[in-house]
Amino acid sequence: MFKLLTVIGARPQIIKAAALSRAIKNHYANQLKEIIVHTGQHYDDNMSQVFFNELGIPQPDYNLQVGSGSHGKQTAVMISGIEEILLKEKPAALILYGDTNSTLAGSIAASKIHIPVVHIEAGLRSFNKAMPEEINRILTDHVSTLLFSPTKAGFENLVKEGYDENPLAPYSADNPKIYHSGDVMYDNSLYFSTLAEKKTPWIENLGLQKGNFILATIHRDNNTDNPKRLSALFNSMIHLVKEYKTQLILPLHPRTSKSLEKNLGDRLWQKLKSTSEICINPPVSFLEMIALEKNCSLVLTDSGGVQKEAFFFKKPCIILRSETEWVELVECKSAIIADADQHRIESAYSWFMNHPDLRYPPLFGDGKAAEFISSEIVKHLNNS
Ligand code: UD1
Ligand code: UDP
Repeated sequence: MFKLLTVIGARPQIIKAAALSRAIKNHYANQLKEIIVHTGQHYDDNMSQVFFNELGIPQPDYNLQVGSGSHGKQTAVMISGIEEILLKEKPAALILYGDTNSTLAGSIAASKIHIPVVHIEAGLRSFNKAMPEEINRILTDHVSTLLFSPTKAGFENLVKEGYDENPLAPYSADNPKIYHSGDVMYDNSLYFSTLAEKKTPWIENLGLQKGNFILATIHRDNNTDNPKRLSALFNSMIHLVKEYKTQLILPLHPRTSKSLEKNLGDRLWQKLKSTSEICINPPVSFLEMIALEKNCSLVLTDSGGVQKEAFFFKKPCIILRSETEWVELVECKSAIIADADQHRIESAYSWFMNHPDLRYPPLFGDGKAAEFISSEIVKHLNNS
């Protein structure tokens, strides 16, 4: 039996971890024992506990309760806490997801004491180092032993950075193995899609008309913390609901809630409050989110995960950033990058209204990425 230690901390990581935990439970329960460490980066019930309750993920064995803070302080407290647990538990490998500060802390803590790092969602690049996530993911990739890229573009980014496509086993941080594995989030979206149907009455209770509402999410620091960009985003949303006689729901990340009143300015804040077509909600559960994604007309988002889920459920997506790691979505024209630019957002919306026949090719695997990843982990541990 091999012991795996999984570090999670932010909302999307808890959701991603559900796929691997499920694969381990269903296929490798006699070979892998998973220990879950929650850093406590996200801590509100609707940013954390709701996902454990809803998605059948085992409760964390440890919670470091680091809470919020500056990048340096938050990451430092995490590194110290994770190191202590690694020294005590002595796992055969550490599993990390994505690109948050919790990911970076895990990769630094484990690699320095020679515990192999498995990075799920490796290889993604925005080529914009002003994003904290770009730094976290590059550093994590470069100390990892097994790197699982969800997309072909991610795999190719790693090859361009010098990774050998066909190294000989045994693998190590100095002889890493890269894979194009498919996306565990696609596994989850397929797996939970039917269950999410139960949430349709909830959507109707919110007063939303199925098929005629926009789903929006905003949480990137360069949008929430920049009054000009945040105002452009909210002016666009107000314009769209009025111009196209539609509704919009915005499940709001706590970072955005906290900045709204301050950064929108009094006039826009009052206007937003009086726009009855816009429904501002606290963060919703994953099943509620999938139900919204399945029933909306279009997605407006600066989230990585939500861009992809729009694609999984065949909805056009306007990306509220200047670039994306999920370049395939833009290449096949189901998503348009509009940044926080009111004119570009409105043009993109109008383009989608005139182009209803979009393509959604199978770019994210076969829904069994987590099974593949766990089988490769087992193979690696047996060979090393
Ligand atoms: C983090 C990740 C980002 C990811 C996002 C997912 C980093 C650098 N960023 O961004 O990559 O896309 O999670 O949602 O790791 N807050 C609360 N309650 C909570 C959590 C946060 O009120 O439960 C508020 C706090 O004021 C906090 C702010 O949100 O300062 C930002 O939280 P933080 O975890 O630092 O970054 P996110 O913006 O959530
Ligand atoms: N999500 C959720 N409830 C919400 C908003 C998002 O369950 O109110 C889910 C969403 O479906 C996706 C993940 O959280 O699976 C994306 O997280 P987020 O946008 O916070 O981070 P990112 O993917 O940008 O790192």
